[in-house]
Amino acid sequence: MIHLALQEKLQQAVLALLPDTDVSSVLVRPCPEPKFGDYQTNALIGLAKRNELNPREFAAQVVEQLDIDDCCEPVEIAGPGFLNFRLRIEALSAALAGAAKGEHLFYRTAVKPRTVVIDYSSPNVAKPMHVGHIRSTILGYALAKVFRLLGHKVVTDNHIGDWGTQFGKLLVGWKEHLNKEALGRDALAEMERLYKLVNAACDEDETVLALAREELVKLQDGDAENLAIWREMIDLSRHQFDEIYGRLGVKFDETLGESFYNDRLKGVVDELIDQGIAEESEGAQVVFFNDHKALKKHPAIVQKSDGAANYTTTDLATLEHRQTTWRPSEVIYVTDGRQQLHFQQLFALYDRWKPGHGMKLNHVWFGAILGEDGRPFKTRSGEIIRLSGLLDEAEQRAYDAVSKKNPDLPEEERHDIARVVGLGAIKYADLSGNRQSDYVFNWDTMLALVGNTAPYLLYAFTRIRSIFRKLGGESLDRPESFALGQAEEQVLAKHLLRFGHVLELVVEECRPNYLCNYLYELAGHFGSFYESCPVLQAEGDTRAQRLALCNLTGQVLQTGLETLGLETTDRM
Ligand code: ARG
Repeated sequence: MIHLALQEKLQQAVLALLPDTDVSSVLVRPCPEPKFGDYQTNALIGLAKRNELNPREFAAQVVEQLDIDDCCEPVEIAGPGFLNFRLRIEALSAALAGAAKGEHLFYRTAVKPRTVVIDYSSPNVAKPMHVGHIRSTILGYALAKVFRLLGHKVVTDNHIGDWGTQFGKLLVGWKEHLNKEALGRDALAEMERLYKLVNAACDEDETVLALAREELVKLQDGDAENLAIWREMIDLSRHQFDEIYGRLGVKFDETLGESFYNDRLKGVVDELIDQGIAEESEGAQVVFFNDHKALKKHPAIVQKSDGAANYTTTDLATLEHRQTTWRPSEVIYVTDGRQQLHFQQLFALYDRWKPGHGMKLNHVWFGAILGEDGRPFKTRSGEIIRLSGLLDEAEQRAYDAVSKKNPDLPEEERHDIARVVGLGAIKYADLSGNRQSDYVFNWDTMLALVGNTAPYLLYAFTRIRSIFRKLGGESLDRPESFALGQAEEQVLAKHLLRFGHVLELVVEECRPNYLCNYLYELAGHFGSFYESCPVLQAEGDTRAQRLALCNLTGQVLQTGLETLGLETTDRM
């Protein structure tokens, strides 16, 4: 891919001048201002300063060494020592011709594939999944797909919350207040009702609280009846989670819940004590981070005073299991921003427990979903919004829109389209913003046919498909070269060439919104191209080349959308 080729040559040129330099930060980026060039590097400035060289002179020496005449116009040195690169039409043409032949789709798989564990979704048993879990599910799944597209080995693990103190109350509720019929109708709703009921009772009545504790201890000690009920709660919950995953088309390689690590927890705490990492404080086992700036005031508890392990202990055991089982170079956790402190503690603790473990530990956090009023997204009566109802509404709204626009399409096809567009809209709204910002949930914005939305991109794709429908059975040429005589063709071609670069940036920073923006711009460039360059009416080589441009745009759009976890449709 061109930016990688440029980057490699640039790094070689630097090495020729400064043989022992670490050139890993000598990177090539898209030029922010197209009028200055297509790609740019600012890395030489810092490098020159660190070596006490004059940046502009150093840049000039690097340019001397650079052997890129085959793909670039003469390189320009700008400002304090930037290099601006402008691609030659011949290089663009060659890249397009290779893609038209199916040799590549503007990205290259990693030379050194990495193993990455991604922990996402991870809802809690006996509680309905809510909109917060959708963000983790959608973001995590999209990230997994981008890593995979670039050839990395990915293990996805759904760390379900299937253990913890809530089961004491749930067991009391199950034994005393269970409504079997309601359970059959909506198991998670019934379990939630039981939990709330007993939770309220505990606040009022000490004896209920004592009973809940007793049931919890029995469960932890392996009481057969309690274990059976607990298993049933897990089965029912997982069944309902799976229904949602099925609708979203989301999959996992592993679903190792918290309970999977129960047998290891005591050993973890013992090791932490033996190694002098945890110490007793008011009956609990606690880890202090005295020499850690951010965590100085936030010690982590790894065993409560009643002897029970907690979320942190479980996560330590989980991470140990991941390290020994898959030997990943990176572990990614996708949760909301309120868990930042937990993961800072976890990572600092793991560094002390397993020094030199060598894994990059990455908390990929996201902001809240807000209602129109700017407050956490709730129903009118203040209830948490259920995921399944939300998906239903998305499909219904998309169905109404499609039916209005295309009343003549067969009913079944309208339903299919509505599913693709409705679910796509929800997913895309989650993916397209900066994940760390809160976002306001708004049906009209996410379902709009204009702007950076799923319907807009899906529609752009259908427009390309319709060009090829008009072609009928005519077979597509694979042009050997592209003239790119019109400015709009060049802009589109250059944008296509950036696909791989964007995928790399997504992986580097775990930000799928880069890919969304890229696809949005691609659709825009395609629109301008299609408006000013006749395709089907063109003749000869021009027609073949433009059709190939349409086809490549369609392929990149489709691959991009599918990598984000969206389906596409041929008609809308
Ligand atoms: N079950 C947790 C929750 O719903 C998320 C778990 C995230 N993963 C982890 N390894 N801690 O908040």
